[in-house]
Amino acid sequence: MTPTSARVRVPRFVQLHQDDDAAVRAELARGLLAHAAFTHPKYLYDALGSRLFEAITELPEYYPTRTEAAIFAQHGADMAALLPQGLTLVDLGAGNCEKAARLFDVLRPASYVAVDISVAFLRGALAALQRQYPGLDMLGVGLDFSSQLALPPEAGEGQRLLFYPGSSIGNFSPADALLFLRQARQAAPAGGLLIGVDLLKPITLLEPAYDDALGVTAAFNRNMLLHINRLLGSDFEVAQWRHRACYNAEVARIEMHLEAVQALMVHWPGAQRHFAAGERIHTENSYKYTPPQFEALLREAGFSQVTQWRDARDWFAVFLAHD
Ligand code: AVJ
Repeated sequence: MTPTSARVRVPRFVQLHQDDDAAVRAELARGLLAHAAFTHPKYLYDALGSRLFEAITELPEYYPTRTEAAIFAQHGADMAALLPQGLTLVDLGAGNCEKAARLFDVLRPASYVAVDISVAFLRGALAALQRQYPGLDMLGVGLDFSSQLALPPEAGEGQRLLFYPGSSIGNFSPADALLFLRQARQAAPAGGLLIGVDLLKPITLLEPAYDDALGVTAAFNRNMLLHINRLLGSDFEVAQWRHRACYNAEVARIEMHLEAVQALMVHWPGAQRHFAAGERIHTENSYKYTPPQFEALLREAGFSQVTQWRDARDWFAVFLAHD
């Protein structure tokens, strides 16, 4: 290095999760052959699915993303005031890194760790962000944290703030959410967890958010079949399936299903399945909480300090939890 050249930081990357094709096929087949067929919601996110989800966040009916953004814009400084200086911001499910980046100026983290299932998704986003924030230490981690949240040592030994926005926690059942929150607490011993949670609200608001007039959510759901065809070698025909979204009040969750419009067969190497007309594949759950319910879950996970911020209509909440 010459004395005049500035030190240029570049993002580092580690890929911890290796897709095991055979395991993916076995998992998909198990769900598709179950009496009540189901698939894991992670299969909604191939390249097109991720773009369709981004489109969903712009729909008039899909309130969570913009409501959460407004909460961060309004209360970000209050959140920062409760947090230590120089922390490592760990973004769980970072995707395009946009949400975390909007917090950089107010939280002023010393380093940023973007975690997503594939490090490939993170490369472009982190490279662009590094140009905007040349002094910020950046690491991209390829990790499927839905089963186990084990951050690598490269993810900073300092105080970590885990960032889990968007109500992604809603994909877990409350029991699994509790296990996840416990792991989050372990992964951020001196820091904390900043988490967005969608709140219980009238069904007249919930259902359109998952069954929009333009049909973007329907496309997002049905696109999973194209993704599965590539992963499993199956022959799903998208035109034979319709999108269904309904609120299940007993368990406080939106359920997404794909429903066969006619009797049909699906084949893939090693197996096949008949679906009767009207038979469904359960593709996603999105649990909704009341503020006291979620606060109780955080406390049960071991967090003793819990602060929350909500929008004026009580549609969405952001919780900061620490020891
Ligand atoms: C990304 C899981 C938070 O449950 O609202 C949006 C996914 N599914 N529309 C949600 C989703 C259909 C979303 N999460």
